[in-house]
Amino acid sequence: MLAFASYSPPLLLFVFTVVVVTSGIFLIPLFLFTVTSLKAHREHSILPDTLPFVGKQSGQLLSSFRANVRGATQSARLFAEAYTKCSLNQIVSIVPTWTKGPQVLVPPSLIPWLSQQPAHTMNAKDCTFENMQFAYTVQHPEITHNDLLDLMIKRDLTKSVGNLNDEIVQEIQECMEELFGGDVEGGGEAEWREVGVWDSMIKLVARSANRVFVGPELCKNDEYLMSCVRWTRDIQVSGAIMHMIPKFLKPYVARLATIPNRRDTATNLKHSLPLVEQRIADMTRKLNDKTFDYEAPDELLTWMIQESFKRSTESERSAYSLAYRLLLLNFAAVSTSTIGGANAVLDVLATDPSDEVLITLREEAERVLAEHGGVWTKAAVNKLHRMDSTLRESARFSGVGGTGLARRVRSEEGVLLPIDGQDGKKVWVPKGATVGVAQAGIHFDERYYGENASKFDAFRFSRPKEDGSATTNEDLVTTSPNFLAFSHGVHACPGRFFAANQLKLIMANLVLNYDVQPLPSRPANTPLGDVMIPPIRATMKIKRRKRDTI
Ligand SMILES: *[C@@H]1O[C@H](CO)[C@@H](O)[C@H](O)[C@H]1NC(C)=O
Repeated sequence: MLAFASYSPPLLLFVFTVVVVTSGIFLIPLFLFTVTSLKAHREHSILPDTLPFVGKQSGQLLSSFRANVRGATQSARLFAEAYTKCSLNQIVSIVPTWTKGPQVLVPPSLIPWLSQQPAHTMNAKDCTFENMQFAYTVQHPEITHNDLLDLMIKRDLTKSVGNLNDEIVQEIQECMEELFGGDVEGGGEAEWREVGVWDSMIKLVARSANRVFVGPELCKNDEYLMSCVRWTRDIQVSGAIMHMIPKFLKPYVARLATIPNRRDTATNLKHSLPLVEQRIADMTRKLNDKTFDYEAPDELLTWMIQESFKRSTESERSAYSLAYRLLLLNFAAVSTSTIGGANAVLDVLATDPSDEVLITLREEAERVLAEHGGVWTKAAVNKLHRMDSTLRESARFSGVGGTGLARRVRSEEGVLLPIDGQDGKKVWVPKGATVGVAQAGIHFDERYYGENASKFDAFRFSRPKEDGSATTNEDLVTTSPNFLAFSHGVHACPGRFFAANQLKLIMANLVLNYDVQPLPSRPANTPLGDVMIPPIRATMKIKRRKRDTI
């Protein structure tokens, strides 16, 4: 006691803090680990135990718990195993993911059935809502339930594809000059630069998409763009954290886990809100006063305000809610296209130089551009068959994988799958379970892609078109039961037409204006939960080309 008394209060406080912090460092992860694994265990326990649980080694101590842990880091292997051992033998199986709960995988023969289920029994959107935990990670969840943004993507954005190519190309070229260098004055030789593939692609995608969303000023604003990019990452990180937390803790954890989301939202709205408010004011004035000399620019923000004028609620009409929708739109558009673009660049650069993939793509882009008077019209982009094939092949080969055609069971009584289990009865899955197919299994199945299914073959889909042997349409945007990168059926990704056009313009401008050194090998994608993340630190060596003719 006496000894203690001689310590000064600040020192005691210091010792106390050290003890709390060190125990926190050990106890918080232990606590989180325990609650997340209990949650994973409970999610698995709602599923029928007659279904094979891939990754679980029976007899092993804590076997289902250990299987769940495997789901976090080895899901690619587990999905492949489920496909070959179960799906191909008409057996329904379960694969753990940890981050998204267990996935019920059905054989490919059930794809037509799965893609036709009504949304009130098996819902595709519920998977995204659940995975991203929108109820906790978006400040205004009601916005995500409203159809306004869906309509913009499905109707207006898709209708516009091709009309704004000049504007998109201008942003791509300016952005590339900033990132990779422009023409050297006096026609000299440019220097090689080493740049990040992911970082470059995210800027190119975000800037050119936002040219169409919000126009030429905001799309060049780096602080605005990077807040869109960061928010996209924030919501995936906080979504994954929230997913692992049991429901009773979510409101509390959400306050901490969404600090970055709220910070980046504030930065974002600081830039977009004034633009949205001004546009609403101008368009309203023009509606009431035909003599007002004003023409709203042709971009998504204008289309969205036009639609909002037909709506009645505050969450469909206020400048704030429309600005927030722009942020959600960025989430939908930027990360997916960046993954597609970065994978395609890496896949192309890792091909054997003697296959001349890059040179062939450049030759095609030069030829098509010349045939269309040097303008990237819609017709011109449609002629880039080899580029289209390369992007589709990369989406097949390096796609994010995981559960294709994922649907979350909504019916209270669960769903009977049209397939018998090992007990001879129809397989039943409960409400809240996720059902789908092993996407990578299908994408690498030799029955659909021939003996070279496991190889990246850039011109796999353009060859039949060019030699006249094509029997089916295999464009990048064409979904099928064998190509699930954009899902398939009524819930196929509605933004794919916009994204395909944008990615083709980015890739064409890359090969036309730059030399890029081949890579000795393909930097590997990494599994995280059930998805494959591209190597975000991979770099490429790039140099501005001297072009005699334009
Ligand atoms: C598969 O690849 C090998 C080696 O590149 C080639 O000889 C063979 O013809 C290919 N098979 C098909 C069906 O294209």
